[in-house]
Amino acid sequence: MNDPKIIVALDFDDLASVKNLVSRLSPSLCRLKIGKELFTACGPQVVELVQNIGFEVFLDLKFHDIPATTAKACKAAANLGVWMTNVHALGGARMMKAAREAVDSVGGQTKLIAVTILTSHSESEIQQIGLMNNIDAQVELLAALAFDSGLDGVVCSARETESLRSKFDKDFLLVTPGIRPAGAALNDQKRAVTPVDAIKNGSSYLVIGRPITQAADPIGILTEISESINFI
Ligand code: C5P
Repeated sequence: MNDPKIIVALDFDDLASVKNLVSRLSPSLCRLKIGKELFTACGPQVVELVQNIGFEVFLDLKFHDIPATTAKACKAAANLGVWMTNVHALGGARMMKAAREAVDSVGGQTKLIAVTILTSHSESEIQQIGLMNNIDAQVELLAALAFDSGLDGVVCSARETESLRSKFDKDFLLVTPGIRPAGAALNDQKRAVTPVDAIKNGSSYLVIGRPITQAADPIGILTEISESINFI
């Protein structure tokens, strides 16, 4: 089965930009991530549009609400036929289990993963909101909670991959943004990791945005990255 490791982040707010980019990519080389901006601007039709061309979708809406509401939102995502969707692990075990059951009730193959601690947070910020663990310990705790709640994996920083991979076997998916090919512009990513290092450290899927979406030749860069990780 074709299982491309690259997920291209569609960080746009209009259909025309999406159509333009996806016409220059290939479903055999990548999946697509649709997040809050694009989904809020364009709705489910953008999911259908790219799925109809053959792309699988990671619907990155990071649901976090009472268990019943989160479960219904996840069920609606699964009903769109998406490949993957996600919740915040901070919603707790009861919420994650309800989400898992709701996704499974659809009978499809939608993978359900959790965000642990947003990598934009600093140590002082998480203390400010009352979390007294340091970030590493909190990420580990929430990843274990997601695992115990039956989720398929977590979103994590490529810097956290190695330590999480030592605790969970390869069936537990580690989906990592903050990826930059050697020599690429960092943009606002401060501690980027190369695709090769991320995969070597145990990452299951790489989320990559601007290095591909802003490239003059998106399929060229995508092919290059894909070939660089193919034989690891
Ligand atoms: O353009 P770039 O490769 O930086 O895009 C990465 C994508 O991953 C964006 O959609 C961004 O919101 C998301 N992301 C991230 N860092 C995180 C979590 C998510 O860059 N820690």
